Amino acid sequence: MSRKKYYITTPIYYINDVPHIGHAYTTVAADIMTRYKRLWGYDVYFLTGTDEHGQKVEKAASQQGIHPKELADTMVHRFTDLWKRLNISNTGFIRTTEERHKKAVQYIFQKVYEKGDIYLGEYEDWYCVPCESYFTEMQLDNGRGPDCLRKPDRLKEESYFFRLSDYTDRLLKFLDDNKDFIMPEIRYNEVYSFVKGGLKDLSVSRTSFSWGIKVPMNERHIVYVWFDALANYLTGVGFLGDDSQFESFWPCDMHLIGKDILRFHAVYWPCFLMSIGIEPPRHIFAHGWWTIEGQKMSKSLGNVIDPNEIASTYGVDEFRFFMFREVPFGMDGDFSKQAIIHRINSDLANDLGNLVSRSVTMINKFLKGRIERPEIRNGVDDSFESSIRQLISDYYKSMEVLSFYKALQSVFDIISIMNKYIDSEAPWRLAKEGDVRVKTVMYNLWNGLRISGLLLSPFMPEKSKRIWEVLGIKNSIEMARFEDEEVFYHRDDLSEITKISPVFPRIEG
Ligand code: MSP
Repeated sequence: MSRKKYYITTPIYYINDVPHIGHAYTTVAADIMTRYKRLWGYDVYFLTGTDEHGQKVEKAASQQGIHPKELADTMVHRFTDLWKRLNISNTGFIRTTEERHKKAVQYIFQKVYEKGDIYLGEYEDWYCVPCESYFTEMQLDNGRGPDCLRKPDRLKEESYFFRLSDYTDRLLKFLDDNKDFIMPEIRYNEVYSFVKGGLKDLSVSRTSFSWGIKVPMNERHIVYVWFDALANYLTGVGFLGDDSQFESFWPCDMHLIGKDILRFHAVYWPCFLMSIGIEPPRHIFAHGWWTIEGQKMSKSLGNVIDPNEIASTYGVDEFRFFMFREVPFGMDGDFSKQAIIHRINSDLANDLGNLVSRSVTMINKFLKGRIERPEIRNGVDDSFESSIRQLISDYYKSMEVLSFYKALQSVFDIISIMNKYIDSEAPWRLAKEGDVRVKTVMYNLWNGLRISGLLLSPFMPEKSKRIWEVLGIKNSIEMARFEDEEVFYHRDDLSEITKISPVFPRIEG
């Protein structure tokens, strides 16, 4: 029987700039989902990569007096090194300058052309180079670009157009039939009303610069950077290269992106795919943006956050955890030193870390480090177990729809239930009185921590591993599967705890 498959992607990142917290955000989110699905036994294909063509890249290279490919060859390591550092478990990596990709983009362009969906015309409008976008007169804000507030140039060029206008009805029908195509719902609604307003044909080639993939039937043109970039989701999983891999993973289950690039993914991309007869992706999730200490992140303000630095200062898992515990995925959030220190100290060091040390210390003291299957239980133990079971199932529900914030809340609810259970059941008293129920209480705490470690493992792979080690669990958490691990009173290989050291030290701010 073939295994369940799951295909998830991040955007491919422009290599004219170094990676920042925004890039890390999407990539870690995709990694969390990947690890979560693996825990359910899925065979996950996780693709990320770099977007290496276009005018922005050409310009950045010429400023440094080097060829764009040379720039890309250096910069790509900034991304791959960061992904290693952040413990990203991607299975694929695609660069748009690779032959396999160029070949596929030309093939797709040709196919769309033959279908009659691409025609030669003329384009004239206001063009902003850094934004790689044309703006209409209406979109300008006092003659300046609507987002960047820079002065665009008036540009007129011969261009190939994609007949996007022909797809308005088909796309609306597709959106009607697939209400969860775009998540969260607010983004679906935005796209829906945009499409409802009617789509205009889209310019898909350029003649004003040369760094890109040549249009197959007219070498004076290069393929528009977004037409080129979106195709990575096909080529990165084997389109025209490894048919069996491609067929087993397409349609893609999840494109994770930032809200700023939603239109490209949710409007243009499904229409390109419809044109060549390939099924659109199943879901697109658009997340919010980070500000830094209350301000927009920008090079000119000098507040761009290097994820390597945060990882060095606070720890890789602490950083991963913070991004998803602090802000509901989908909303905008603010990164501040104070906020990350607060999260680490209150959630990790106090609530979780202390619980682990207290429990393990008591297991050592009262049970000589040996966890045993409980012989008796009472109503308090039953209700402890049933509330935890409920929270585990809430966690699954939230994770399935990428509500990482809620999922983490369920885990911290489990932790808080355990903290209350210790206080109310006072195992030190049971031990003193020689009550055998001390074994039950310690077992339940140990088991609750084992489960919490497992549920946290997509977010904090290394720390979760440590939690299991401290609990004396010999099995590797990476090989664990929810089906086997979730259940209470299930395992026979109970643990023996020998040494302990704190899993989550406090941070001085
Ligand atoms: N190359 C295109 C994507 C092509 S995908 C077929 C691109 N690259 S990018 O490097 O500029 O941006 C990549 C991602 O970073 C986007 O999803 C964007 O939303 C995200 N972010 C950039 N700044 C961000 C924040 N300040 N906060 C959160 N995410 C941000 O666009």
